[in-house]
Amino acid sequence: DRKIKIAPSILAADFANFGQECEAVEAQGADWVHVDVMDGHFVPNITFGPATCAAIRPHIKGVMDVHLMIAPVDPYIEAFAKAGADVITAHVEAGPHIHRTLQAIRASGAKAGLALNPGTPTSAAEPLLDLVDLVCVMTVNPGFGGQKFIDMGDKIKALRAMIGDRPVHIEIDGGVDVETAPLVAGAGADVLVAGSAVFKGGSVGDPEVYGRNIRAI
Ligand code: DX5
Ligand code: ZN
Repeated sequence: DRKIKIAPSILAADFANFGQECEAVEAQGADWVHVDVMDGHFVPNITFGPATCAAIRPHIKGVMDVHLMIAPVDPYIEAFAKAGADVITAHVEAGPHIHRTLQAIRASGAKAGLALNPGTPTSAAEPLLDLVDLVCVMTVNPGFGGQKFIDMGDKIKALRAMIGDRPVHIEIDGGVDVETAPLVAGAGADVLVAGSAVFKGGSVGDPEVYGRNIRAI
């Protein structure tokens, strides 16, 4: 279904309280929980790995959406699948064998996502569309939360047309807020990742703020 789903990114949550943060955003209406894994190599920042994903898994009732900003990807797929990832997304830029990587993700039992950096053309996804459940269009250069939105409207429209009637989500990641969400949804996206726009002004002690932020998007 093409109902718009909001996926709060816990990159903007309290790192000392991931369990409660996940429960709070789900209770406040989040559809998925987006989990950003960074290795300090593919992107210039480090977050956490499969052990942290496994620790937060019991605190998420719905979809745990794991965005791998790591290279290489293949040696870690099984670990993230075992950690309970429902969706595992790898970057097309992360290595020379993205086709093999996507096959391995599906073989692990997870849904496969393909992420495209802002500088990567839509055509990079074309030969891979039968291997994926989701295409993630980055609207920032990955590595940090709170960056300025980069308009990828034409790319989203082109991808939606290219996907045709395949059951493939288009996810948008980076700078999604009250102003940019309608643009990307109008262009054909159906999963909106939002970090700062969801967590700003709230806390696990005051989670109603998350609810207001989610509904505003
Ligand atoms: C960026 C991450 C995003 C990030 C989005 O590298 O992949 O998921 O958390 O954060 P905001 O919504 O603050 O741009
Ligand atoms: Zn992300």
